Amino acid sequence: MKILAIESSCDETAAAVVEDGTNILSNVINTQIELHKLYGGVVPEIASRKHIENISAVVDKALDDCNLTFEDIDAVAVTYGPGLVGALLVGVSYAKGLSYSLDKPLIPVHHIKGHICANYLENPDFKPPFICLVASGGHSHIIYVKSYFEYDVIAKTNDDAAGEAFDKVSRVLGFGYPGGPQIQKAAESGNKYAINFPRVNMGSNGFDFSFSGVKTSVLNYIHNAEQKGIEINKNDIAASFQQAVVDVLSDHLIKAAEQYCVDRIALAGGVASNIPLRETISDKAAEKKFEFCYPRSILCTDNAAMIGCAGFYEYQNGNIADLSLNAYANLDI
Ligand code: KG4
Ligand code: ZN
Repeated sequence: MKILAIESSCDETAAAVVEDGTNILSNVINTQIELHKLYGGVVPEIASRKHIENISAVVDKALDDCNLTFEDIDAVAVTYGPGLVGALLVGVSYAKGLSYSLDKPLIPVHHIKGHICANYLENPDFKPPFICLVASGGHSHIIYVKSYFEYDVIAKTNDDAAGEAFDKVSRVLGFGYPGGPQIQKAAESGNKYAINFPRVNMGSNGFDFSFSGVKTSVLNYIHNAEQKGIEINKNDIAASFQQAVVDVLSDHLIKAAEQYCVDRIALAGGVASNIPLRETISDKAAEKKFEFCYPRSILCTDNAAMIGCAGFYEYQNGNIADLSLNAYANLDI
């Protein structure tokens, strides 16, 4: 089954063709990062307008790249939430138009399920049940993936998402947007033990996240140093901040896996590209004898291949939408 998938929930206009949920035939991503960089973060109205300008060419390229035409496609899958509602609406409207004109099924896909399914693209032998840490610019969740169709959220963030904290700290350090890769790079030349930023555990089970405290702590550290006329070492701040976030994310993931008695763990979302995070979890997983999967970077960031994979399982589960499908900024998994 060949699924044409569309993703437009934030600042990437993406389309892909995925066969049988595992085989990526094409994967086109048009990123707007350079444009949003000018404003220090994603401007929703600009994102929506750019999606409208780009979507036809991105979908055409996804088909061209695998020498297919619209007639060769068996279904259209689209991200319908959560995300920026104006941005989502562009993909949803386009997918509805395609589904109607081609008379092919329309499959609605939850963005976070898409991120999780990127692991099946990375390693088709990696199967549920497993515990997945989803960390991106908009989300920080720990999810118990019971089967290809069943997802239980066991932890969330109480405030900022992990990627959002990377982006905000990067902005105050003057590194710009998106912050994750820049903080990671600066951290390579810094001392991660230089400053002891807080590690916070929240919620009744201690698995929930809170990243606003560590972000404020970085801001206070910089502010105090400025007031006292002390020169700051940006690389040390980046390394110490990154370590605080990595410690919390990895601890919660491992503890959740132990509590839920699974022996497989996974990463997903933009922050899953973070190398110290991957290495830390990899070490802990080896210690505990857990199987550990994480998608390559191009499948961690927002992309449509992951939506094509998730769409395959949604279709198998009978989840087909009609033309009343809407876009939702907030959407439970
Ligand atoms: O999944 P994604 O592309 O978009 C959302 O759904 O949000 O994630 C983007 C987020 C940004 O906050 C970005 O700073 C973060 O992922 N990110 C990273 C790294 N690469 C991207 N965070 C830490 N380390 C990285 N290497
Ligand atoms: Zn995402």
